[in-house]
Amino acid sequence: MADAVTMDKIVSLSRRRGFVFPSSEIYGGMGSTFDYGHYGVLMKNNIRERWFEAMVRNRDDIVAIDSAIILHPKVWEASGHVAGFTDPLIDCRTCKLRFRADKLEDSQCGLKPSKHPGETPECDLTEPRRFNLMFETTVGALQEEGSRAYLRPETAQGIFINFKNVLQIARRKPPFGIAQIGKSFRNEITPGNFLFRVREFEQMEMEFFVPPDEAEKWYRYWIDERLNWYRRYGLRDSKLRVREHGPEERSHYSQGTSDIEYEYPIGWGELEGIANRGDFDLTQHAEYSTTKLEYVGQDGERYVPYVIEPAVSIERIMVALLVDAYDEEVVGERERTVLRLHPKMAPVTAAILPLIGKSDDMVAKARSLYEDLRRRHSVEYDDSGAIGRRYRRQDEIGTPWAFTVDEQTLADDTVTVRDRDSLAQERIPIAGVGEWLEGALERDWKSPKAN
Ligand code: GAP
Repeated sequence: MADAVTMDKIVSLSRRRGFVFPSSEIYGGMGSTFDYGHYGVLMKNNIRERWFEAMVRNRDDIVAIDSAIILHPKVWEASGHVAGFTDPLIDCRTCKLRFRADKLEDSQCGLKPSKHPGETPECDLTEPRRFNLMFETTVGALQEEGSRAYLRPETAQGIFINFKNVLQIARRKPPFGIAQIGKSFRNEITPGNFLFRVREFEQMEMEFFVPPDEAEKWYRYWIDERLNWYRRYGLRDSKLRVREHGPEERSHYSQGTSDIEYEYPIGWGELEGIANRGDFDLTQHAEYSTTKLEYVGQDGERYVPYVIEPAVSIERIMVALLVDAYDEEVVGERERTVLRLHPKMAPVTAAILPLIGKSDDMVAKARSLYEDLRRRHSVEYDDSGAIGRRYRRQDEIGTPWAFTVDEQTLADDTVTVRDRDSLAQERIPIAGVGEWLEGALERDWKSPKAN
């Protein structure tokens, strides 16, 4: 069957099943801002966990940090964001809409949506102006000069300004990395496509400090590592590619940037960026703060490390995972929607279901299994409605396995395990369910969707 997924289907399923809600809905909504429901939170936790495990826990050369969202305003002067983190904007005096000057061909005219801005005689466009994407705020009670601060537009700067702390206190020597997960904010002018471009998002960034002559090697290394991470968690190869930026496309700090792109329903788009930032950030902060930010070896060797940075948001990963997993198929003349998520990314790992919700004996056994499993896994108990409908509900949220307690369980203490993708069922002893689940979670997993 052809890939049935569209962004509208993902938005609708996310809402229907309580992954993601439009924010402030009862007040008419807040454009391109979203709230996460229960399954959205569970899935975000999984994405965060898997990233942290690969980037910090399973390595000896990367440590974690959690810096403040509101940093000293000079940080953003030094980083170049005050002067340069801008988009060119054009206003239309007729329809009062605002467009990105470099994205007019992707925008719709406010009067005639079939046309691009500037294509109708009524369009009256201003010259492009630079618009800074940082959200401003004031610190303290007074709104006066000197109290202005910014919500961070990237987590990276909170890492650079702590370089010296980590170098000294964590006693690190390049190559080593500092990783951070946290909210970033950008006043995007053309947000949209669900979670793909939002104004508030959670970044996962790692700054890897290396001797300058090793920068190219580590840049290639991190492109491969991150690509393999996506493959490991089931994104299909045919939907992933690496695109290297041309010199004109790179950010002001970059000596080389590659995007890992995913083929979203809106076309190929940036999932994660891997940049060689050179010594730009440490040099800038050293100058603005007058603090030396360099590595000094025991033999007197000293240099400003280069930085390789893999940077991504949980939101972009979540859309890619949902899109890649979404499937529709007909089973026994009934259509089912199923999220074929990697078991370690699925919000719920297993459902525990008594076949007959009104059977006290089945309920007691199922609840006892549930109480046991919930101590170690994200599991869900459900006894309401027909069993077929309960399976379908779990399919839609991507639960890989369901353990069902039935008549036979009461006789021989076995349960059935139903597999979300193959729909195969097997019987296993109830006492072995925990071990079975641990083993199943450790197995390699490949998307059953056609590549
Ligand atoms: N520190 C480097 C940096 O922030 P970036 O390419 O601007 O680089 C890194 O952002 C990643 O953050 C992107 O690859 C994307 O995954 C995510 N991202 C950026 N802007 C976003 C937005 N408005 N909404 C959701 N994710 C965003």
